[in-house]
Amino acid sequence: MKRKSLLAGVLAGTLAAALSACGGGSAAAPSSAAPASEASSAAETKSDGKKVGISMPTKSLERWNRDGSYLEKQFQEKGFKTETTYADNKVDQQVKDLEGLIADEVDLLVVAAIDGESLSQVLGDAKDANIPVIAYDRLIRNTDAISYYVSFDNYKVGQLQGQFIIDSLKLDEAGSSTFNMEVTAGDPADNNATFFFNGAMDLLKPYIEKGTIRIPSGQDTFEQCGTKQWDTATAMTRMQNILGSNYSDGTKLDIALCSNDSTALGVTQAIESDYAGDGRPLITGQDCDEANLANIVDGKQTMSVYKAVANEAVATLDLGEAILKGEKPDEKLIVDSNWSFDCAYDTTSYDNGRAVIPSYLLTPVAVTKDNIQKELIDTGYYRMDGAYPKALA
Ligand code: GAL
Repeated sequence: MKRKSLLAGVLAGTLAAALSACGGGSAAAPSSAAPASEASSAAETKSDGKKVGISMPTKSLERWNRDGSYLEKQFQEKGFKTETTYADNKVDQQVKDLEGLIADEVDLLVVAAIDGESLSQVLGDAKDANIPVIAYDRLIRNTDAISYYVSFDNYKVGQLQGQFIIDSLKLDEAGSSTFNMEVTAGDPADNNATFFFNGAMDLLKPYIEKGTIRIPSGQDTFEQCGTKQWDTATAMTRMQNILGSNYSDGTKLDIALCSNDSTALGVTQAIESDYAGDGRPLITGQDCDEANLANIVDGKQTMSVYKAVANEAVATLDLGEAILKGEKPDEKLIVDSNWSFDCAYDTTSYDNGRAVIPSYLLTPVAVTKDNIQKELIDTGYYRMDGAYPKALA
C-alpha cells in the first residue's frame, strides 16, 4: 500500500489547478501547462470524447454538492463529457436518473447510492449495456454490475470518533468514574452507516461492558440508533425524546456519539434546547460541514472527521480512465497515479452480496478546534471567513 502524506500548504488556487492536472497528478500545480487549446485537445484525444454519468443522492447534504462538482471538474479537465444528476434523496428518482444516463449512452457510471439495496435492476440494465459502474463513497449491494468501489475507510471514520472519546475523557484512567453516552447512527439504507457505527462501538464496547460508559436510554444497537436519510430534524427529535425520558432529572450527559455532521447538528440543537444537566457533552461528527465547523469553533460540537472529497474525485477519475482503457486496475493504480494523498487498495472488506468489490479507500482525519488550521486551511480545502471556516467551492 503506497503511503504519501498530503502535501501541506497547498493554496486554494494551486489546489484547483492541481485538481485539474491531477489525473496522475500531485498536489503541486502543473509547472508548464500546455496552452488551453493544446491541453484540451490532448485531453480530448485521451478521453476519446467519452461521457461519464455521475449520479449523486442529494444536494440537501452539503458534501454531495462538492462531490458532484469535483467529479465533474476532474473528468471534464481530462476531456470527458459529463452528465450529473441529483436525486433529492428519493430512491425512485435516482433509478430514473440512472435510466436516463443509460439511455444517453454514457460510457461509465459513477454512483453514490441513496439506498444501497435499491439499484439492482437498473444497474443490471447498465451491465447489459456494457457500462462499467463505480460505486462512489457508498457500496451498492446485490448486483454484479459493480466494477469497483471508491470511498474513505468507513470503519476508520468510526474508530476516529470512538478513539477521540476514549482519549478526550481519559477512559483508561477513569477508575470508578462513569460517563453517560447516547448514540446517533446514520441511515440504515446507507451501507456506510454500519461501518461508522461499528468502528466507534467496537472501540467503546469494552468500556460499556466495564460500566465506565453507561447508556441511560438503553438504545445501543444500530437498529435503535439509526437516522433515516441522515435527517437533522429526525436526529433532533429523537435526542429530545431521549433527553425528556432519561435526563429531565438533571442526569449528566457526557457523550453524544454522532456518526456525521447532519445528525450532530440535530443532536446539538436538542441539547441546546432540552438538556438541563451539568456541563456540555462531547459531540462527534463527520464531513466538516460549515455549520458544524462553526459549532466546533464556538465549542458546541467537539470534533468532526474530514474526508477530502476532492481527492476522492481524483481517485475516481484515474480509476475511471483506467477502466475505460480496458485495464483491470489494482493496487498498482495507486503507485502509478502518484497521488499526493493516502489510499489503500482493499480486496476483503466490502462484500456486496454478490462479490467482494475491489475498493480504493482514502484516509479520513479527525478535526477539532485545535487542528482546523492545519488540516483544513493550510491544505487549501477551506478558507477562514471571519472566525469560521468556509469550504472552497
Ligand atoms: C455517508 C457519507 C458521509 C455522511 C453521510 C451523509 O454515506 O459517507 O459522508 O455524511 O453519508 O451524506
